[in-house]
Amino acid sequence: MTNRTLLTGATRTLGRALRPRLREAGHAVRAASRSPPPESDGGNLEWVELDLVDGTGLRSAVEDADVVVHAATAPRGDSEAVDVRGTERLLAAAADAGVDNVLYVSIVGVDEILLSYYEHKLAAERAVEASTVPSTIVRATQFHPFVRDLLDAVSRLPVWPLPTEFRLQPIDAGEAADAIVEYATADPSGRVPAVGGPEVRTVRELARTYREARDLRRPIVRLPIPGSIADGFRSGAALCPERTVGTRTWAEWLADSEVESVRSR
Ligand SMILES: NC(=O)c1ccc[n+]([C@@H]2O[C@H](COP(=O)([O-])OP(=O)(O)OC[C@H]3O[C@@H](n4cnc5c(N)ncnc54)[C@H](OP(=O)(O)O)[C@@H]3O)[C@@H](O)[C@H]2O)c1
Repeated sequence: MTNRTLLTGATRTLGRALRPRLREAGHAVRAASRSPPPESDGGNLEWVELDLVDGTGLRSAVEDADVVVHAATAPRGDSEAVDVRGTERLLAAAADAGVDNVLYVSIVGVDEILLSYYEHKLAAERAVEASTVPSTIVRATQFHPFVRDLLDAVSRLPVWPLPTEFRLQPIDAGEAADAIVEYATADPSGRVPAVGGPEVRTVRELARTYREARDLRRPIVRLPIPGSIADGFRSGAALCPERTVGTRTWAEWLADSEVESVRSR
């Protein structure tokens, strides 16, 4: 049976990877964005306008949906409004529409690392669990583009100040999407095992690989970050080494993205 599936956050890192995979898995996808493209890109994909902050388009977006894959987020914006209140709004609408499974994408370590964004993700997880809508929650480790953005931000500086001892387990967003799609069914699974990348690396190691791939020579210096957030990233709270789902390493992803960026110049 074809599932009618609303995908929030359809335009960016994970959503872009989920769109084709959901379609390949037989879903009729309703892809949501605050600024949807003017036209749909073919069979089994329809774009809808949805703003989780003010509720624009919400009722019609969830209408007749069997599954909601909820990947919208605002890590650099008002995450309380989008991730907490927006998720609550989405859950209420999904409950009214009789959705079979709301699949919420979260992050490994949100319960241990006291970043305000992570606190909002945790509050959203709790709202999902408290809702009357059947649900699935899957946590993932950082996607490769997140690490790239972190390093791009310092790449023009003469010296790169970085939290060198933080440990991450970055994953290819496509491989994370492959795992997440498996749970996008009309049967809710509750909390499922986390999805992590193939290797655990310190930020110093990730930065060295990036520096080599970009043929740069800048020194990497330790940015001392005191407090419990730093302790969390150092101690491994953001990791799930027993769940190495992805196989594409940071070095491989970076090499491929270098080739792609040269081709598109
Ligand atoms: N990035 C990571 O390293 C990482 C790691 C683990 C888990 N995750 C989780 O994976 C999910 C997807 O993350 P991502 O990195 O793909 O996110 P992203 O690249 O930051 O994209 C955010 C998406 O949210 C949508 N959005 C933002 N504000 C919205 C609003 N008010 N109403 C409706 N939609 C809104 C955006 O769509 P428009 O701008 O088109 O409206 C965009 O498609 C999130 O739950 C995130 O917490 C991310």
